[in-house]
Amino acid sequence: MQNMYKLKIAVIIWMMLISDAVQSQNPGDQGISSSDNFKIEALLRTMTIDEKVGQLSLFISGWDVTGPTLNNNYKKLIKEGKVGAIFNAYTVDYVRELQKMALDESRLKIPLIFGYDVIHGHRTIFPIPLGQACSWDLAAIEKSERIAAQEATAEGLNWTFAPMVDITRDPRWGRVDEGAGEDTWLDCAIAQARVKGFQGTDLAANNTLLACAKHFAAYGAPQAGRDYNTVDMSQLSLYEWYLPPYKACVDAGVGSVMTSFNEIAGVPSTSNKWLLTDLLRNSWGFKGFVVTDFTAINELIPHGVATDLKEAAKLALNAGVDMDMQGSAYLNSLADLYNGKKITMKQLDDAVRVVLQAKFKLGLFDDPYRYCNKERQEKELMTPESQSFARKFVAQSCVLLKNQKQTLPIPATVRTIALIGPLGDSKKDMLGNWSAAGESEKCVTLLEGIKNRVNKNVSVIYEKGCNANDRDKSSFGNALKAASSADYVILALGEEGGMSGEASSRSNIDLPGVQNELAEIIINTGKPVAVVLFNGRPLTITKLNTLAPAILESWFGGTQAGNGIADVLLGDVNPSGKLTMTFPRNEGQIPIFYNAKNTGRPYNPADPGAKYVSRYLDCSNDPLFPFGYGLSYTSFTYSNLATTVEGSKINVTVQVTNSGNRDGEEVVQLYIRDKVGSVTRPLKELKGFQKVLITKGEIKTIEFNLTTADLAFYHPDLKKYWEPGEFVVYVGTNSAETISKSISVK
Ligand code: BGC
Repeated sequence: MQNMYKLKIAVIIWMMLISDAVQSQNPGDQGISSSDNFKIEALLRTMTIDEKVGQLSLFISGWDVTGPTLNNNYKKLIKEGKVGAIFNAYTVDYVRELQKMALDESRLKIPLIFGYDVIHGHRTIFPIPLGQACSWDLAAIEKSERIAAQEATAEGLNWTFAPMVDITRDPRWGRVDEGAGEDTWLDCAIAQARVKGFQGTDLAANNTLLACAKHFAAYGAPQAGRDYNTVDMSQLSLYEWYLPPYKACVDAGVGSVMTSFNEIAGVPSTSNKWLLTDLLRNSWGFKGFVVTDFTAINELIPHGVATDLKEAAKLALNAGVDMDMQGSAYLNSLADLYNGKKITMKQLDDAVRVVLQAKFKLGLFDDPYRYCNKERQEKELMTPESQSFARKFVAQSCVLLKNQKQTLPIPATVRTIALIGPLGDSKKDMLGNWSAAGESEKCVTLLEGIKNRVNKNVSVIYEKGCNANDRDKSSFGNALKAASSADYVILALGEEGGMSGEASSRSNIDLPGVQNELAEIIINTGKPVAVVLFNGRPLTITKLNTLAPAILESWFGGTQAGNGIADVLLGDVNPSGKLTMTFPRNEGQIPIFYNAKNTGRPYNPADPGAKYVSRYLDCSNDPLFPFGYGLSYTSFTYSNLATTVEGSKINVTVQVTNSGNRDGEEVVQLYIRDKVGSVTRPLKELKGFQKVLITKGEIKTIEFNLTTADLAFYHPDLKKYWEPGEFVVYVGTNSAETISKSISVK
């Protein structure tokens, strides 16, 4: 008998070792030890149904409400062991207080996870993620998440609801500010850099955060750009363009995934078994836990797939949702569903197991207070090093959209600068959306940034001119007076910080209010004028672009916004940012993105009068600024593009000359076009880039090494493979200005 028992234990250990080995096959997946697995199984055997459901329930703390609040009882529930995780509670004292409740008062003393939307920094706020993406600097992006994790964990947090990796092709959607833009290839690279930055190599370290890839899936494609709206697209588009960034996060070992609010092809993500179980877990091998978005289980009722909360909870659990964010749907229904034999214990255990595993991976069972270190909180927030990095990152995220007659940088001879516009001295707007624990009063405005930078011989005057978003022109006169008295004018225009982000879709995405009119009267003074834009999405600035000699896109730069922008305006930093979302001429062109198809009736610019072609009668097909676009204070010329194809290897070299008169960084971009395929292919697809410093007069040879795997695409059977044939290789400074060469790949 005893021997039988020993044999059984040996088999169990062996099986656990095997499962550990399987886990570690996933690169970046930080598996857990077999002894922790033992502890988890033992816990599962001890837990009541209510305690299990508790582990699957996530509640907001009431500190920072980011959606509808349905349950304010979180403290009572923690004590009863009915909460697995809390979000929007931070600072060492508060986290310790809540953690202590779980440990001292709940029966099983299971520690809580503490989550927060650490989206672009925690205390030190970096540029909005869309702006960061425009830096095309993966190392800087990773570093910003590392600093964010350092700061967030110093305040008790251990889980972030980031990265947001939704592909975005519609700038009316307010949440484009949170993603990396329209290109799938680039978005995958950025997504992995972010996961690495947050999670590091050891989730149990006290300065790493569990990341959460969101919003799974295709939340970035709501119809008409309206937030929370229906998503409907072909399977091929879903596979080819929208799913890869989430998969890239899974490949990088992301610890959790958040469901999206939207439906896809009639099935809301939160009840989509194919998406959450077949694809995410079974096909991609995701090992972490799935959390809903805010009350997304409850929203299955208005979606029209469930009649009541109980049915909604059953659908969600069946689909593969492990944790319910804020909806109490699981809390109120899973026990009844189990007692009524509508769900099984195995289903509950599977969900609880992945949540407990996350707690083990975070080291919370070893020391539940490991993220509650007051000394760290005092030392590691807003350090001088993170401020200086943030300042550089702001400058790197800026995109120079226009610069006629070298209006920028501001000449050293200028003695009076008039800064005019509603965004020139507004601390609260610098943070942008989802600014975590960022404090607006600590932000550097553009006015402060310029004053910090110029010497005392230069006077800087500021006039607001108008508000960002109303029709009041009563301050135009003062603005005009200031402009007339200065020898250089900077116009600080754009959106308020809250005009992008969640629930902030706009149907008209030009400058709001009377800002175009303000710009017109100021530019008509004939003074040299540079516009600095602050905004969370591409804008239809067609009118402004015809008026203004120079435009610098600065997004919302965060804590160091003003200093970083001043570095660019005054020429200390040569701008090198490139757009990762197309700027349309007007809203009628939306959705507009560079990797579009040719169609059967393509418009030919050489025959502009042709009628029966794919075009508008009242507007060109071209965007105002294409994907990949951004100017420098110097200029780059591309020449001697050469290609060789040997077996599965494709080698591309190009010479890039800095033909201007100062050193500069260039983002050299490589695109391909597959001329004929069994499925139509885009006109161009980004397949590589290199960001390089090229000194004045220098010629640099840039080399790209592709393989035939880079030519692969999805087919109707949803398999991905490449087809031999003719391809065009394009290399250039943006997606529209390239030099090219045809290659044949067999
Ligand atoms: C957003 C998520 C966010 C969550 C928690 C939701 O409304 O869609 O992106 O993580 O709130 O704040």
